[in-house]
Amino acid sequence: MNKVPTPKSFRVKSFGCQMNVYDGERMAELLATQGMEAAPEGEDADLVVLNTCHIREKAAEKVYSDIGRIVKDSDGKAPLIAVAGCVAQAEGDEIMRRARDVRMVVGPQAYHRLPDMIARASAGERVTDTDMPAEAKFGALPARRKRAPSAFLTVQEGCDKFCTYCVVPYTRGAEISRPFADLLDEAKRLVDQGAREITLLGQNVNAWDGEDGRGRAIGLDGLIRELAALPDLARIRYTTSHPNDMTDALIAAHGEVDKLMPYLHLPVQAGSDPILAAMNRSHSAESYLRVIERVRAARPDIAISGDFIVGFPGESEADFAATLALVDEVRYAAAFSFKYSPRPGTPAATMEGQVPVDVMDDRLQRLQAAITRDSHAFNAASVGRTCDVLVERTGRREGQWLGKTPWLQSAHFTASEGAADHAVGDIVRVELVEAGPNSLAARALT
Ligand code: SAH
Ligand code: SF4
Ligand code: F3S
Repeated sequence: MNKVPTPKSFRVKSFGCQMNVYDGERMAELLATQGMEAAPEGEDADLVVLNTCHIREKAAEKVYSDIGRIVKDSDGKAPLIAVAGCVAQAEGDEIMRRARDVRMVVGPQAYHRLPDMIARASAGERVTDTDMPAEAKFGALPARRKRAPSAFLTVQEGCDKFCTYCVVPYTRGAEISRPFADLLDEAKRLVDQGAREITLLGQNVNAWDGEDGRGRAIGLDGLIRELAALPDLARIRYTTSHPNDMTDALIAAHGEVDKLMPYLHLPVQAGSDPILAAMNRSHSAESYLRVIERVRAARPDIAISGDFIVGFPGESEADFAATLALVDEVRYAAAFSFKYSPRPGTPAATMEGQVPVDVMDDRLQRLQAAITRDSHAFNAASVGRTCDVLVERTGRREGQWLGKTPWLQSAHFTASEGAADHAVGDIVRVELVEAGPNSLAARALT
């Protein structure tokens, strides 16, 4: 390919899960340390990094349409394009074949080598780096952050569970836990830079383990307790968890650590045991429900959320009815549901009994109606409660502030007449006064 000047400006676009968002932020910081500047919104960048997601077919196909659009809109001055993330890992060679304008393919474990790749790509090479070295990339990435009241911190990466529908074990590799000392350091820095809330991230975050400062083995509950001791950190969350890794100690932490917010994202995927077995989930509907029961006993007001897949191969109407029955029993505060998407190389993609798309559409609609019903009920039941809101930004109306309740609901309020005004990052005591479809109206009490 032709040589191009070393890029001066960049844009990182992240898709998919929060861990990709975290990685995208880290890449942006790395590029900034190389003397490049983030291109302002709406302006062309010399380098575009597409940080992609492979979880469902639609997400993966988006990469190719994005590349096409970037090239088409560039008036002949196409930027250097790097494809990063899980599509890069899963189909790096295919991207290089299908998309001739892509100069770099960089897998999720190779981000720290981006500067070198950019130098080679500017010199005219097309470079692929999808190695999955055992040592983690994290140490090599800078942890300087933009100020924000709520920050992500990846503590665990990869997955050993091999659910039969899922690409993550292939794109992110085996489970690794980042060392405790590194996490404590990064958390302290985040707090120094203004974070009041930290969300601990991992594909199986509750499988995190490590050694505390005194060499004792600890699990996620121990990490949460250590972080809760940071004076200026007000809130801790974690996501995503696997039902089988919800230990007694982690459940107990929900009842004992005030800074651990009353919210648990615990995907179940389906309510029928034969389907759960075919998915290789290694839990049953009943064992999942028992976990929820124990969590609620520890923290009665906890908001539960989950993930569902409808139309997994072999799912009958009776299997789907079991999913609806499970939803009725859990009463989710929020949940995400998806149509099954066959992923190349996963065992489920070649299973018999693939479900027709119109059946999936119908089931998805019924499932989402049930979830919406419960989520509205959860919000309606919050009206009248007094709670803290972490202020994240100003609202559209004069004097209006937006933030999150402990149960991760969006809430908006207006500073009361004569009271002190607020700022982003403040934790404001409010009364929740009205539940709308997407957020709650609140009244500031301070
Ligand atoms: N580690 C998490 C979730 C990772 S992926 C867990 O164990 O649940 C996020 C969600 O995407 C999954 O919970 C699942 O609901 C959905 N998903 C994953 N693979 C999918 C596929 N092939 N088709 C449709 N949805 C899928
Ligand atoms: Fe995918 Fe299952 Fe691992 Fe979650 S636990 S990332 S769904 S393989
Ligand atoms: Fe997508 Fe990869 Fe996350 S496939 S959901 S970006 S781990």
